[in-house]
Amino acid sequence: MSERVLVTEPIIPEVIEKLENQYQVDVGKSGTYDNEEALINDIPAYDALLPMLSNPISEDVITAGTNLKVIANHAVGYNNINVKAAIKEDIAVANTPGVLTDSCAEFTIGLMLAVSRRLFDAQEYLLDGKFENWEPLGFLGTELNGNTLGIIGMGRIGTGVARRAKALGMNICYHNRSRVSPEIEQELNASYCSSIKELASQSNFISLHCPLTDDTHHLIDHEILDVMNSNTILINTSRGPVVDEEALAHALHNKTIGGAGLDVFEDEPKLHPKLKTAPNCVLTPHIASASYQTRKDIGLLAADAIIGILEGKSHSEIPNLIQP
Ligand code: GLV
Repeated sequence: MSERVLVTEPIIPEVIEKLENQYQVDVGKSGTYDNEEALINDIPAYDALLPMLSNPISEDVITAGTNLKVIANHAVGYNNINVKAAIKEDIAVANTPGVLTDSCAEFTIGLMLAVSRRLFDAQEYLLDGKFENWEPLGFLGTELNGNTLGIIGMGRIGTGVARRAKALGMNICYHNRSRVSPEIEQELNASYCSSIKELASQSNFISLHCPLTDDTHHLIDHEILDVMNSNTILINTSRGPVVDEEALAHALHNKTIGGAGLDVFEDEPKLHPKLKTAPNCVLTPHIASASYQTRKDIGLLAADAIIGILEGKSHSEIPNLIQP
């Protein structure tokens, strides 16, 4: 009998086919495994798990997975997995770094433009039949060119956004746990801000690209929002809880900042009611990596980690394993 793999949601078919060539694969119905109970109930039957970031892979899920050898997250972030608990149980954990950098970086630039040029307000105006004559003062926005983008988290995606923003004529500053190499700073002509406050006070656009950890929870709170100027646009394609949404909604409604583009939310998939009505706000349902090619590459990379572990490869041969 071949090993059993649980893929918690329907994903790109080529990935499922690749796993099915070697294993018995079950694919969960959309949303089924967004709660712990369903996972705890079903996990004992599986040798490998390919979860989504919406699945809470808690310590209880991990201990219930008595046959589990590998968890390969269908995401680069892995804040949904209790990695410590998995490693304690000798279960390998993998993520998907690298393959979604371009897709997320492009999407981030798209959100910046959508907010700064008011694309969706303009579409609504048009569809509401309000476009009766061309107005020279209609929908005046802000250009990216010549403005400063502050990037928080200068990993792969942050750097990818910086490269694109520089090509569009933006000045780059950044904050990161540690400075990037002098070569990258030089390439991007990027200045380092030693604090988030310093970055927030000098940026017209701020884009978040840090992982969600205890240290980054509510990194953008009312104190940081207060430092931003009334034109500043905040973009979040990282993780919702990095931003205190209550404080952000307050700043947007009071127009103490210029706008926000949010692809991720604090209590995903729920939307903070005050964000629904906030002005100059573009909201999308966590789709920064959602291009066909990228979602296929994410799935294949996760599948490779599963195959590697189930075939008995050593951890050093599987590049996308999370090291303890
Ligand atoms: C998406 O949010 C990811 O972490 O891959």
